[in-house]
Amino acid sequence: MPSDLIPDPHEALRQKWDQRHTSAAGVGEVAAVLAENIHLLPATGSALDLACGRGASAIRLAQAGLRVTAWDLSPVAIERLDSAAREQAVSVDAEVRDVIARPPEPESFDLILVSYFLERGLTPAIIRALRPGGLLFYQTFSIDAVSDCGPSNPAFRLQQNELLALFWPLKVVFYREEGRIGNNQFGTRDIAMLVAQKPVE
Ligand SMILES: C[S@@+](CC[C@H](N)C(=O)[O-])C[C@H]1O[C@@H](n2cnc3c(N)ncnc32)[C@H](O)[C@@H]1O
Repeated sequence: MPSDLIPDPHEALRQKWDQRHTSAAGVGEVAAVLAENIHLLPATGSALDLACGRGASAIRLAQAGLRVTAWDLSPVAIERLDSAAREQAVSVDAEVRDVIARPPEPESFDLILVSYFLERGLTPAIIRALRPGGLLFYQTFSIDAVSDCGPSNPAFRLQQNELLALFWPLKVVFYREEGRIGNNQFGTRDIAMLVAQKPVE
């Protein structure tokens, strides 16, 4: 088959996300791990929203006074983020970037937020990209869920305690994974959330 007829999986993924971001309303939701732990943010410094989507969390980080970079594969998501940031008069350096092909540079951010993006192979690069003392805010879908939200493929969901295992070199500041325990009408369900700090050597 001529090479120009071979489907490009990267292009298919970009198109899928462009379509979702085109049909979705607004900038999305601020990640719960950020909203619930906003008091842990440093007063100044640089933050990366990795696989930022339409940018609700990136905008929240900028409103908190941080210098914010936001990367996503989808040009539609980045356009939507750019225009929302302009409307809200905050500055976000938003860029179309495949974070698997081009992960962040070592020791380049004081804070990294990852929300609903699970690429296990990126874990070492994310840890390296934090400056000493830097904070990771991470949340994504867990295998123990009470609703059918999120990916149906179990490989795209966290196993029990998996965020703790993936980011074991970091010091745990906050961790929550409720599973199906207790009254499922309440709480923050379907996800695991981690805030963790890179040790200062
Ligand atoms: C479920 S959305 C989450 C968006 C946002 N973080 C949030 O919490 O609303 C996953 C995002 O990952 C982006 N994405 C998927 N693969 C990517 C890659 N290789 N590099 C950068 N972004 C990617 C998609 O475009 C999409 O915006």
